[in-house]
Amino acid sequence: MGFDRREGKIMRVAGKIAVITGGGAGIGRACVELFAREGATVVIAERDAATGEAARDAIIAQGHHCLFVPTDVSEADSVRHLIATTMQNFSRIDILYNNVGGSTMNDGPVTTAPFEEFWNKIKVDLFGTWLGCHYAIPHMIAAGGGSVINASSMYGLVGTPNRDAYTAAKGAITALTRSMAVEFAKHRVRVNAVAAAGTNTERVRARVAQGGVSQKVLDAHLLGLVEPMDVAQAVLYLASDESRSTTGHILAVDSGLTIS
Ligand SMILES: NC(=O)c1ccc[n+]([C@@H]2O[C@H](COP(=O)([O-])OP(=O)(O)OC[C@H]3O[C@@H](n4cnc5c(N)ncnc54)[C@H](O)[C@@H]3O)[C@@H](O)[C@H]2O)c1
Repeated sequence: MGFDRREGKIMRVAGKIAVITGGGAGIGRACVELFAREGATVVIAERDAATGEAARDAIIAQGHHCLFVPTDVSEADSVRHLIATTMQNFSRIDILYNNVGGSTMNDGPVTTAPFEEFWNKIKVDLFGTWLGCHYAIPHMIAAGGGSVINASSMYGLVGTPNRDAYTAAKGAITALTRSMAVEFAKHRVRVNAVAAAGTNTERVRARVAQGGVSQKVLDAHLLGLVEPMDVAQAVLYLASDESRSTTGHILAVDSGLTIS
């Protein structure tokens, strides 16, 4: 944490190097904005070059440091290159937010969903998270600590029909978060996850418009769809030193879904 004289306020991740995957759109993009505003140098790891460059340019135009590294989180060579490039530029990684993922309209019950959808969710959401941790955590250990935040989902925590590939991947991310938290606590590397409920991103708005989210599920969001910036605030807390005594936690941003 640091005090910024220009802004006249405490910056919650001042001076930290934060790698955010899928930072070009949705929740990832909100995190890029928030982390830069709170003093971090953000590395955007994004598959879509146009959105990655646009996000980077917007952050730089606001007077912050930012790097865009074209990345496919599901490919080991690509993630190795991401982490190596970050180290070459900044010599350390303090924060890794494994954000890439999301359910698709191809998903469904285990009895009918295409096999490709299952393997795609395992490869992008789960293996993508695994790869980020595999390459980044050794650098955090060498530096004496760090904070990893994984994107789980409320749909991976409560029974949710019609998304069996997605819920399987997110449930595994939750388990992986807890086991890594135990494994790496001795190195002061904290590992937590954020579990959002339905969030008001372009992808989800399109899905709702196509009738891909039932009215029952929408009604269970007592406060309405979650705003991307509200998920970003939860990620920021877990990334910052304010949560230095917290590890292995799955932080719900659930709009009341679990109590409805
Ligand atoms: N939106 C929701 O309702 C919701 C709810 C709970 C959890 N989540 C989780 O939050 C995370 C972000 O969701 P979102 O709705 O903001 O997603 P999004 O689709 O809006 O954005 C995802 C970003 O990741 C990028 N991306 C996709 N595949 C990639 C890959 N292989 N490598 C690198 N970049 C890639 C996309 O180009 C895009 O910029 C996901 O893990 C999702 O499961 C979302």
